[in-house]
Amino acid sequence: MSTMRAVVVDPDVPERLALHEVESPSPAPAEALIRVSAISLNLGEVRTALLRAEAGWRPGWELAGVVEQAAADGSGPSVGASVFGMVGFGAWAERVAVPTAQLAEIPDGVTFAQAATLPVAGLTALYGLERGAILLNRKVLITGGPENVGHLYGLEGEAMLLKRKVLVTGTSGGVGHFACQLARQGGAQVVALVRRAERAASVRAMGVHEVVIGEDAELTRSFGPYHLVIDTVGGNSLRTAVTLLETDGICVNLGAAENPDMTLQNRYGSFDSPENGLVIRDIKPRRVAKDLERLAQMVASDQLHPHIGLEASWSDVAEVTRSLLDRRITGKAILHVS
Ligand SMILES: NC(=O)c1ccc[n+]([C@@H]2O[C@H](COP(=O)([O-])OP(=O)(O)OC[C@H]3O[C@@H](n4cnc5c(N)ncnc54)[C@H](OP(=O)(O)O)[C@@H]3O)[C@@H](O)[C@H]2O)c1
Repeated sequence: MSTMRAVVVDPDVPERLALHEVESPSPAPAEALIRVSAISLNLGEVRTALLRAEAGWRPGWELAGVVEQAAADGSGPSVGASVFGMVGFGAWAERVAVPTAQLAEIPDGVTFAQAATLPVAGLTALYGLERGAILLNRKVLITGGPENVGHLYGLEGEAMLLKRKVLVTGTSGGVGHFACQLARQGGAQVVALVRRAERAASVRAMGVHEVVIGEDAELTRSFGPYHLVIDTVGGNSLRTAVTLLETDGICVNLGAAENPDMTLQNRYGSFDSPENGLVIRDIKPRRVAKDLERLAQMVASDQLHPHIGLEASWSDVAEVTRSLLDRRITGKAILHVS
């Protein structure tokens, strides 16, 4: 049996995470084996690892590295290609078997660290905006120029966020940063809510139209009403957000950074009905490999800037995950696997 090191939940160590020897993966026919160089952390998996997971669980959704063994079915990148992608768990490891449908090559000029930020936060922001724009228009394209129309999502139409007023909450976080930038790329007028003044500069740097500082979404009312709200905070933020909408506006809630146990009780009884202006977590990945490729190309061409607030060695995983959970990091945290 060949072994490798991986981050494993171990309730006997501080912060419950440690590097342990585990069995190396055996890729399925449609999976490539990746030697991991960088991993990126997300609030959801960090909450699970530090607060809930059982001993032996292996966290990790996204990674970047080099193909060590190409997929046996001939799909995906060849040996030696620099790639990034996502899996359901276990990405925080020296080697990971990744389905080629969830893997893309890293273009020249994009680092492993930058690429590793894209799968979860980048796709969530992209699909959240796409979902909102579809509901607003019944036809969509959020990522810009006419050359893309009908290409990405098989629909016809203009850039459907063009001149639309979009409010994004939680903009100092991983998803919020990407949502602001992608909405701008789609031609939207973006208002960004950031709760701490010291984190406003990085939000302003994304070229949004207005930056509103504070915890209460009510502070953004004077810039509304909004065609689309992308809410990553949940709780009070979400409760207020649905009252800031234009007639027939849409609120897409992507998460509950404020409180994972949040429940929403208000007059919007049905959560998945566009008529109610509210959609909750109805984000379905479509063409993951293609969309990853597109996000990475946007980074390569300077249209999308991953905000990396912290880079460290994966031997510091316990300390870094705690910092992320306690919100001491702006944007994304990256661990280098060595
Ligand atoms: N649906 C999906 O597929 C999906 C995918 C990815 C993420 N998510 C969810 O989306 C949410 C955001 O994820 P993320 O990766 O962007 O998290 P993150 O990087 O930790 O960012 C969290 C953001 O929320 C803000 N925030 C936290 N508590 C707040 C409060 N009480 N009031 C106002 N703002 C608050 C933070 O502001 P500060 O910087 O001031 O702390 C930060 O901007 C999480 O709930 C995550 O689980 C869902």
